[in-house]
Amino acid sequence: MNIDQKLKELPLTKSNPNTLESLFGKGDISPMWVADMEFQIAKPIQDALIARISNSGFGYEYKPESFFLAQKKWYEQNYQVDLNKDHVLYSPTITTTISTLIENFTSESDGIITQPPVFMEFRDVIRNTQRRITKNPLKLIDKQYQIDFQDLEEKAKLETNKVLIICNPHNPVGRVWTKEELNQVVSICKENDILLISDEIHKDIILFENQFTSALQFIKDYERIVVCTSEAKTFNLCGITDSMVIISNEELRNSVSATFKKYNLGRTNALTRVALETAYTSGGIWLKNIIKTIENNVISIEKELENSNIHLIKPEGTYQLWLDFREVFEDTKEMFTNITEGSGVGLNAGHWFGREGALFMRMNIATSRDKVLNSINKIKKAVPNKTYNK
Ligand SMILES: Cc1ncc(COP(=O)(O)O)c(C=O)c1O
Repeated sequence: MNIDQKLKELPLTKSNPNTLESLFGKGDISPMWVADMEFQIAKPIQDALIARISNSGFGYEYKPESFFLAQKKWYEQNYQVDLNKDHVLYSPTITTTISTLIENFTSESDGIITQPPVFMEFRDVIRNTQRRITKNPLKLIDKQYQIDFQDLEEKAKLETNKVLIICNPHNPVGRVWTKEELNQVVSICKENDILLISDEIHKDIILFENQFTSALQFIKDYERIVVCTSEAKTFNLCGITDSMVIISNEELRNSVSATFKKYNLGRTNALTRVALETAYTSGGIWLKNIIKTIENNVISIEKELENSNIHLIKPEGTYQLWLDFREVFEDTKEMFTNITEGSGVGLNAGHWFGREGALFMRMNIATSRDKVLNSINKIKKAVPNKTYNK
């Protein structure tokens, strides 16, 4: 049975007929929108989960020392971070953590700075906590997105703005912020007493020659940095993992910890614990192969789009492609309908990530090369053979 047939048997969010109907206007669509993988999980993780399930029952569990040792080693080897386990708190999702951070450290109608186009749940969390979104839009310069530092500085200086949420690697545009860029971000936050939340969930999918730098590397310069992360995306475990938040400042950590305790959010899930510990100790080779596959998918698509009127913003990280349709369409609705109807492939419309993403689309390429190429060819055919002079 091929992977597509296996996936069809699962109640995956990305192929929920009701969701497809409401987002794309039809249920029979090939879903390449939700950010999860279509690869079989690493064999050691699969074996460890099967062994755990076979072993009597599921009593309450704690995270044993072996878990923390494996985690510490993973963080040292992969991100040059000396992780102190006492600085890590666990919650069900990153959005749970960001809501808590916003509620605990800001007041209603305070400004939270984001860098659109960006992961849409940042916007939802800010709205749901009755705070105000302050945009520091990314600038697209020579096919590469960059931070507008001048604008960031102006926004950070405003008394009403209290928090900056960055995404590194950035979903959806695929930038991996350099050490120099992060240094500048941290300096601006420090100068203006802005709490810096760095969402690093995509940290393990770093492509080609790019280098990931965690915001944790700047903790010695500025204590008001909080890193939200998880290994869910990395190991295709979105359906079973929880998330981590790393806070070195004691006062900030105690406040978040008190809220998590109030709602009892930090309980260990036995399967998550087994999957993660095995991922840390034995998942590295699988991950290297997955990154190679994703890089090859990027290269294939780049070639496929060489002489086309669809332009690829080459990703430095993540397994998302950010496709530029500005040369073909002037209207977002026309773009979305043309591509959805014409290709039968379900992509995220760029404006779902903020209006700064208008006339772009995001495509998940964590799947087989055949599927990726097949889909991009269908998309190419669905796009009119015209260009607007821009
Ligand atoms: C940047 C970013 N943060 C967070 C999440 C979701 O994390 P969680 O499921 O833990 O809320 C995603 C999922 O796509 C994401 O891209």
